Amino acid sequence: MSSIAVSSDHAGFALKQHLADVLRDLGHEVLDLGAHSADRVDYPDFGEAVGRAVAGGDADLGVCVCGSGLGIAMAANKVPGVRAAPVHDVTSARLTRQHNDCNVLCLGERLIGAEVAVDAVRAWLDAEFEGGRHEGRVAKLDALGE
Ligand code: RB5
Repeated sequence: MSSIAVSSDHAGFALKQHLADVLRDLGHEVLDLGAHSADRVDYPDFGEAVGRAVAGGDADLGVCVCGSGLGIAMAANKVPGVRAAPVHDVTSARLTRQHNDCNVLCLGERLIGAEVAVDAVRAWLDAEFEGGRHEGRVAKLDALGE
C-alpha cells in the first residue's frame, strides 16, 4: 500500500473527495492537501502542494483534480522530481506509469465521469514502471527540472 497525496481546486473538489474515499477503501494512506470545500481557489497552489509532498518524500504518489486536469498538472510539473500527467482514459493512465513512471496522476472533473476516473486511478496504481528502454528517457525528463 502507498501513501498518496491528493488535492484539487474547487472545480475538482467533488471528484477529489470521491477518489480519496476510494483510495482509503483500497487500503492506501491518504494525505489530503485540500481544497477542503468547493469555494473558489487557484489550482496552482494545489498542484504545487501535491508536487512538493511527492518530491519531498511525504507521499509516494499524488492524485490531483481540477476542472480539466491540465492546469493542476502544469503546476505539479514545476516541482523538480515530479512527473505529472493529465489523463482521461484508462489506457493513458496505465501507460504513463509503465513508460513515464508518472508519480502524480491528474484528472479533469469536468471532462470525465467518476467511474472512468476511478478505473484510471486503479489502472495507474496497478501498473508498474517497465524500466529498460524507458529508464534513460525518464532520467532525461528529471534532468530537465534540475
Ligand atoms: C477553474 O475554472 C478551471 O480553470 C480549473 O479548474 C482548471 O480546469 C484549469 O486548468
